[in-house]
Amino acid sequence: MSLTLNLSQAGSFNWSAYQQEVSKLHAAMVNRTAVGSDYLGWSTLPFDYDKAEFALVKRLAAMISAEADVLVVCGIGGSYLGTRAAVEMITGLVPNRKLQLVYLGNTFSAPYIVQTLNALKGKNIFVNVISKSGTTTETAMAFRMLKQHVEATYGKEEAKRRIIATTDKARGTLKTLADKAGYVTLTIPDDVGGRYSVLTSVGLLPIAAAGIDIDAMMKGAQDAAKACSSERIAENPAYQYAVARRVLEAQHKSVELLVTYESQLAMVAEWWKQLFGESEGKEEKGLFPASVNFSTDLHSMGQFVQEGKKVLFETLLLVKNPALDMVFPSDPENLDGMNYLAGKTLDEVNKAATFGTLSAHHEEAGIPNILITLEDTSAYSFGYMAQFFFIACGMSVYLLNVNPFNQPGVEVYKKAMFKRLGKI
Ligand code: PA5
Repeated sequence: MSLTLNLSQAGSFNWSAYQQEVSKLHAAMVNRTAVGSDYLGWSTLPFDYDKAEFALVKRLAAMISAEADVLVVCGIGGSYLGTRAAVEMITGLVPNRKLQLVYLGNTFSAPYIVQTLNALKGKNIFVNVISKSGTTTETAMAFRMLKQHVEATYGKEEAKRRIIATTDKARGTLKTLADKAGYVTLTIPDDVGGRYSVLTSVGLLPIAAAGIDIDAMMKGAQDAAKACSSERIAENPAYQYAVARRVLEAQHKSVELLVTYESQLAMVAEWWKQLFGESEGKEEKGLFPASVNFSTDLHSMGQFVQEGKKVLFETLLLVKNPALDMVFPSDPENLDGMNYLAGKTLDEVNKAATFGTLSAHHEEAGIPNILITLEDTSAYSFGYMAQFFFIACGMSVYLLNVNPFNQPGVEVYKKAMFKRLGKI
C-alpha cells in the first residue's frame, strides 16, 4: 500500500447514505454508460496500455537521455502538468541528472518564451511537442519557433530524429504536420482526456527520458486501480475521498486546499488543481481547488487559514519517507540559538511543523482535514497516487451530476482572444 487515507479529522461520514448513489455510478463507469464515458479509458489504462508503444517510448527516452543536454517539453494543461509533477516529485527540484527538462508551449508570456529560446542556443536539444487536439495556440506558437530553431541548427533531415510529436492517432493539425515532416509520432488514446493522460505517452516519454522507472509507475497505477476497485465505499479509499469532498461541500465548504510540505510536490498540486478544477467546475457547481506549500506558505497564507473566513477544508498530501534527509548539526557557539534542534533530522522538524500546524488548524480553527499519506516520492507512488486521484475525481464529479471529462468553459476565453487576434 503506497497511499493511505485518514478521515478521522475531517468529520464523521455515514457511507450508507451515499452507497446507493455510488453503486449506481460505479456500475455506469464500469459498464461505460455514464455521461462522458467515451473518456473513461484511464480507468483500465494501467492494465491495457499499448505495450508496443510503451517499448517505443523506452527506446526514444534512452536515445534522448544518452544524447541530449535538454529535452524541451512543449505542451500545456494536461499535456504538460502531469509530466512536470512526476519529474519534480520523483527526482526533486535540483536533480543530479545530465538531461535538463525545459517546458515551453505553456504560456504566451513573451519574456519567458524569448529567454527560454535564447537559452537553448548552443545546447544539444530534442523536442517533444504534445497536444491531443493539435491546435492549442500556446503550444502551436512555441512549436513553430522550436521547429525553426531545430531545423536551422541541425538541418531538416536531423530534425526528423530530434522532434517527436505526441498527439491524436489520426486527427488534427499536429498529426498532419508531423506526418508530412516525417517525425516519429506517439499516440494519445482517444478515450483518455488531457488531464487524465500522464500515464500515456504524453507523460511517459519525458518522464522516462528523465531517468524514471515507468514500469514501476505503471505498477503503482495498477495496484491503486485494484485497491480502489470496490463499489463499496467502506472498502474503496478513492470513493471515501470522493464522498468526503461532497459531504464537506454540503457543510458549506467551498474551497479544498491541497496542502503539501515538500517543495518537490508543488507541481503535483498544480496537476491536482487542473484535474479537479477542470473536471468539476461546471454548471455553477464544484469545490474551488487551491493549494499551498507549507511551511513556505505558512508565512503568507497561514494567517488566512487560521483566522480567515471559514470557507475551506484542507487535504494534506503527506510524504511519510522523504528520499533525502540529514541530521541538523550542533554549533558550539550556538549564537543563533538553534542548538535545541541539533541531532534531529530535517524531516523530523518538517513533521513537527506538519502535525503542529494540523492541530492548530483542526483543533483550534475547526478546519476539517483529510489526510492522504504517500509512502514516499518514488515512481511507484506517483503512479499509485495519480490513479487514486483519477478514480476519486471521476466519482466525486459524477456525484455532482456533471460530466467530469469535458471543459466547455475553456472555449469562452479562446473565442474572445481569437476575435482580438483576427483568427478566421
Ligand atoms: O484536460 C484537458 O483536456 C486540457 O487541459 C488539455 O490538456 C489542454 O487544454 C491542452 O490541450 P491539447 O493537448 O489538445 O493541446
